[in-house]
Amino acid sequence: MDGNLLTVENLSARYAARAGEVSAVDGVSFALARGEVLGLAGESGCGKTTLALSLLKLLPENGRITGGRILLEGTDLVPLSEDAIRPFRWRRLSVIFQGAMNSLHPVYRIADQIREALEACDPNMSRQQADDRISELFRLVGLDPALAGRYPHEYSGGMRQRAVIALALACRPDLVIADEPTTALDVIVQDSILREMQTLQRRFGMSMIYISHDIAVLAEISRRIAVMYAGRLAELGAAVDVFDNPLHPYTAALLASVPSLHGPRTRLVNLPGEPPDLLNPPSGCRFHPRCPRARDVCAEREPAWEDFGGGHFAACWNPAGRDA
Ligand SMILES: Nc1ncnc2c1ncn2[C@@H]1O[C@H](COP(=O)(O)OP(=O)(O)OP(=O)(O)O)[C@@H](O)[C@H]1O
Ligand SMILES: [Mg+2]
Repeated sequence: MDGNLLTVENLSARYAARAGEVSAVDGVSFALARGEVLGLAGESGCGKTTLALSLLKLLPENGRITGGRILLEGTDLVPLSEDAIRPFRWRRLSVIFQGAMNSLHPVYRIADQIREALEACDPNMSRQQADDRISELFRLVGLDPALAGRYPHEYSGGMRQRAVIALALACRPDLVIADEPTTALDVIVQDSILREMQTLQRRFGMSMIYISHDIAVLAEISRRIAVMYAGRLAELGAAVDVFDNPLHPYTAALLASVPSLHGPRTRLVNLPGEPPDLLNPPSGCRFHPRCPRARDVCAEREPAWEDFGGGHFAACWNPAGRDA
């Protein structure tokens, strides 16, 4: 074993859609150490959520993993049955779903929803132990334990999001996948939740995959950053290397769209062309139709996932700073 908590090897996932097969994750590989935070960036539709759901084997009915391995301390989760994977979910791996603040069950009190998770993890937990743990979790995420008996509609959006984080942490997982956990919230609440998650992550030494389309948010929280484009990893490396020395032209374009401190938020306007259609992905490098550095080979063959030194990986035939 290599000492990593999670090793993902060549993972692919597809959805069956009316018009054909959507290749939403294609040959993704990365590893995550214990206690490490990996940021995952990429524009809407590039497969971030599909990757997260694949790791927990929670893809919707029409989705399936079509290849690769997900090794959690050496155990491959891919071949496991639904019954066999259940002990891993929430206890070992947990997820804060995208738009989760709207995913709490509306007719159950928040405390009861957390209690259900706690009882599922530890059927021997007494009512008192569960109540104590709920209070502890509430305090951890910055909520007043006195509000635990309320219903989701009695909470603000920020409070609901905190409750969902409490739920994800309930069973003390080794790895939390946070899928755009703060995107729907206003900037001030976003910032404070981000800071609290950082504190919790450090305090419990959890590993975390933090997903955001906003690479600037990722830079605050993650030591390493992975950039995804059209279902594939384009680049991965230490945040400082990815920021200061992006190898993949797509990463450079993402960084160019990061707003300045006082400027307005911009979109990826500097990229020509349309985001790719994953029903019929482009040949070769999926980014080639929009790439300012594309050469003939880029349309013909898929670039290898190459280590450019110091754990800085990219899949590109013509990376920046390496002009032929
Ligand atoms: N249930 C589904 N059935 C068919 N196609 C799907 C399904 N869910 C997602 N897709 C497609 O898979 C691709 C990846 O979607 P995914 O939701 O993983 O992207 P994302 O990076 O999380 O986007 P966002 O930033 O908007 O959350 C997209 O082309 C999307 O349209
Ligand atoms: Mg998503």
